Amino acid sequence: MSYRIRTIEEYHEAYAHSVKEPATFWTAVADAFTWQRRWDEVLQWDFTTPDVKWFVGGSLNITENCLDRHLATHGDKTAIIWEANDADHPSKYISYRELHAQVCRMANVLKKHGVKKGDRICLYMPMVPELAISVLACARIGAIHSVVFGGFSARSLVDRITDAICSVVITSDGIRRGGKNISAKTVVDEALKDCPSVRAVLVAKCTGEEVPMQAGRDHWIEEELKVVVADCPAEPMDSEDPLFILYTSGSTGKPKGVVHTCGGYMVYAGYSFANVFQCDEEDVFWCTADIGWITGHSYIIYGPLLNGATSLMFAGIPTYPDATRFWQVIEKHKVNQFYTAPTAIRSLMAAGHDLPDRFAMPSLKLLGTVGEPINEEAWHWYHEKIGKKRCAIVDTWWQTETGGILLSGLGDMTPMKPAHAGLPLPGVQPILVDQQGNEITGEAEGYLCIKFPWPSIIRTTYGDHERCRINYFAQYPGRYFTGDGARRDKDGFFRIIGRVDDVINVSGHRIGTAEVENAINEDAAVVESAVVGYPHDIKGQGIYAFVICDGEHADENAVRASVTATVERIIGKIARPDKIQIVSGLPKTRSGKIMRRILRKIAEGETGNLGDTSTLLDPGVVEEIKAGAQ
Ligand code: PRX
Repeated sequence: MSYRIRTIEEYHEAYAHSVKEPATFWTAVADAFTWQRRWDEVLQWDFTTPDVKWFVGGSLNITENCLDRHLATHGDKTAIIWEANDADHPSKYISYRELHAQVCRMANVLKKHGVKKGDRICLYMPMVPELAISVLACARIGAIHSVVFGGFSARSLVDRITDAICSVVITSDGIRRGGKNISAKTVVDEALKDCPSVRAVLVAKCTGEEVPMQAGRDHWIEEELKVVVADCPAEPMDSEDPLFILYTSGSTGKPKGVVHTCGGYMVYAGYSFANVFQCDEEDVFWCTADIGWITGHSYIIYGPLLNGATSLMFAGIPTYPDATRFWQVIEKHKVNQFYTAPTAIRSLMAAGHDLPDRFAMPSLKLLGTVGEPINEEAWHWYHEKIGKKRCAIVDTWWQTETGGILLSGLGDMTPMKPAHAGLPLPGVQPILVDQQGNEITGEAEGYLCIKFPWPSIIRTTYGDHERCRINYFAQYPGRYFTGDGARRDKDGFFRIIGRVDDVINVSGHRIGTAEVENAINEDAAVVESAVVGYPHDIKGQGIYAFVICDGEHADENAVRASVTATVERIIGKIARPDKIQIVSGLPKTRSGKIMRRILRKIAEGETGNLGDTSTLLDPGVVEEIKAGAQ
């Protein structure tokens, strides 16, 4: 790719160019892609409304860039290697030509069901090739995909389907993950009782289990594919037409539908993939995320395919059948770049420090981490035991809203500092501000903001632009606020401290405390609750719930079990509290506001100084909570 940076000097040059002349910088990058119509203007922006447009007036289809344009030169190259959950299940190797044909077929299935440009399609599936194919099939015809992680409950699915008013759901019979089977279709059936907008359900056969099929609404994808052709023209999309919606948690109770658009997202996903991971022609790239999260969108599907790379997609988990599964897969498929979350690294480290010694993994060139801060111990273990001290580590910081990696090392060319995300990618202008929004320069700690748009910045939150403004652009006027605190050292390297809002990062997944509280409060035994994060050895942060229950429910263990089940039912297992403490009251100010600062300190194990408690309505409650802390 002509936009690939090869040396640290080139990086500094590209960075300086991108700040001085963003328009000419991004023109050169975007010119490496295929456009059906070239743009008239590179960028229009205003962070007040906010209103950001990239490659204005341009027309393209991202699947032509992911698929068609590779056919002449790379048609037989493997686009996707699929590794099943169970090691004895055969792997699949899908070439660019096959993937193109399958995407076209699936796109024709969607058309057959009346799907048109702009329609919203919900995907609730395991990590099977059909998921990647369905994502690309939506993009092929201009339908907006909304992938929902397969671990979410029926209720969460209802919220996401109704918010986006989806007309079709693509799912599977079941999901096999680790040693468990989850019946995806049953969850969808349950959800669809409350989703009148859905008129068709397309079902992939994955586990082979028997599932009820509702006549007229449910269709087996296998059967549908037999009656369509493998040719489907790519729908011309305006640069600013939405490509997808992806829901993420915020500090308010309701998840937000982050909207990314076709042109800018394509350019930045392609550019960031090429430069951070530095894949060579024959390399195999493996990102272990689920496609239900942004990491899977940008670095399993779009980023690698835009660059004609080979992307490995894994349906399993790191610890099944045992904690060497990742290393087996790396050896089996000769993986060159491996990208995972610190949580996975910590859990594999805990399973046996020396387990990876059995695997030589000579193919590895680069290791990456994403999703949460990596502690130094895990960083060194990753570097020594997996990278055998040969491979550089890129610690990539970004968010669902940023669409692609913003802070990171580039391949092995950036000096490594354990636990530091590193430097901004070209085009990214991060700043630190104090509480009043004043920019702080030099070595400093503050709130991380970005002061200039990059092509894949969030455009809106689906159906509610005001929410987008308030969440990201109102706190520090004229800046995009990330919600993270960070430190910058004398060399300009960033170290992410963590969220500064009411969002907890559990195993690299964002969970809003208000969302968990709302779920807990639906439990019949609960009067009120407050949820905070606390440091957790494996997950990074755990969920600590303080719960007031009504007088009738005296059996604390029964309340805990019930609260856990309620959270699983309403959100999903990922939001299950790690600790539940039954309390008689919560520390509130006279105006009724819960003082989370105090609860956070107690959850962190702080028994001494809890700061000023004089404004509390009932300071006595703090002593009681402290005494009962877990
Ligand atoms: O707090 C930061 C943390 O994850 C948040 C974004 O979460 P999400 O939108 O789910 O996307 C995760 C994958 C891109 C950020 O606000 N985060 C992400 N990457 C890092 C990180 N924290 C520290 N270091 C990172 N490398």
